[in-house]
Amino acid sequence: MRRSIAVLPGDGIGPEVVTESIKVLEAVGNRFGHDFVLSNGRIGGNAIDEYGTPLPQETVETCNQSDAILFGAVGGPQWDDPANDVRPEDGILAIRKSLGLFANLRPVKVYPALINSSPLKPEYLAGVDMLVLRELTGGLYFGKPKKRWTTSRGRRGVDTLKYTELEIERILRVGFELAMGRRKKLASVDKQNVLESSRLWREIALEVSEEYPEVEVEHILVDNAAMQLIRNPSSFDVIVSENTFGDILTDEASVLAGSMGMLPSASLSSLPGKNVLSKRVSLYEPIHGTAPDIAGQGVANPIGSILSTAMMLRLSFGMEEEANSVEAAVDSVLIEGYRTADISSDGGELVSTSAMGNVIANQI
Ligand code: IPM
Ligand code: MG
Repeated sequence: MRRSIAVLPGDGIGPEVVTESIKVLEAVGNRFGHDFVLSNGRIGGNAIDEYGTPLPQETVETCNQSDAILFGAVGGPQWDDPANDVRPEDGILAIRKSLGLFANLRPVKVYPALINSSPLKPEYLAGVDMLVLRELTGGLYFGKPKKRWTTSRGRRGVDTLKYTELEIERILRVGFELAMGRRKKLASVDKQNVLESSRLWREIALEVSEEYPEVEVEHILVDNAAMQLIRNPSSFDVIVSENTFGDILTDEASVLAGSMGMLPSASLSSLPGKNVLSKRVSLYEPIHGTAPDIAGQGVANPIGSILSTAMMLRLSFGMEEEANSVEAAVDSVLIEGYRTADISSDGGELVSTSAMGNVIANQI
């Protein structure tokens, strides 16, 4: 099969981890007889430096002409001046919005081999296997007004948490469908005791849940969800939340998996499984950022990116066996004891970013 992939490495450790995903894709192509045609595009800080914009038109066209997008990370201290009117992060936000990628799937599982890499006690981690479904194109990230200004009484800033019925309903529906294919449990996260948008969220969650009587639903306040993620993480199956809550909860959840570097994600514009072979392009990225403190040193963990690539194979290309082979390769190198620095607290063999990519690709 021939498939075209837009590769957007971005900034910081983005290019380092994406390079390893490409190695793995090549191994998959060789073993299963596929031709993955890659086209690189600039995005983020390096695009600002080169073109003055974090998302050049060329990159948008490359994405539109591809079957899927493999994204690294964007941002860095050199572009962080609050006075700047363009920011690297605007690049990824604009892609998400323009491609309608409203459903961000962030699976969190604990690899038994890494149970000691987490600061949490092992007894809390057994059986953790959840999917956080984050709404990705609404809420505070995009609501207007969004601005800063100065009045006679000082500086002010505003962001707007706005959701339409349609936006809430479609993400919850994806959540329920995903729960039906899993353990049939869904936690709908909100802050309905304070926020009007959350009261709407809960009302719609109650309505949609009536269509899924087999799914056991829990409506949970976000502050409580943050606590339960640590106290009782194995109780969660599918968690659905609005954009900002999902951003925060998934960084927290990554501690369960041992490291931010482990978590993949898929950003979709329709129900997974139903978009295979459709023209709509989806985006795959690790949940971590650019990690400027370790960028360029060859020590970053590429597994989050590699597992995102497995999600691409499964969800965009319908290549289930290929995706399984990548995930199995990750499992086995972890069991064999290969560790990048972020997951090395339990010993094992410390390897570089590229050595980790090599051992995974060699298992395919
Ligand atoms: C993420 C990141 C992004 C977000 C940033 C880089 C804009 O934190 O994908 O979780 O907040 O969505
Ligand atoms: Mg984040």
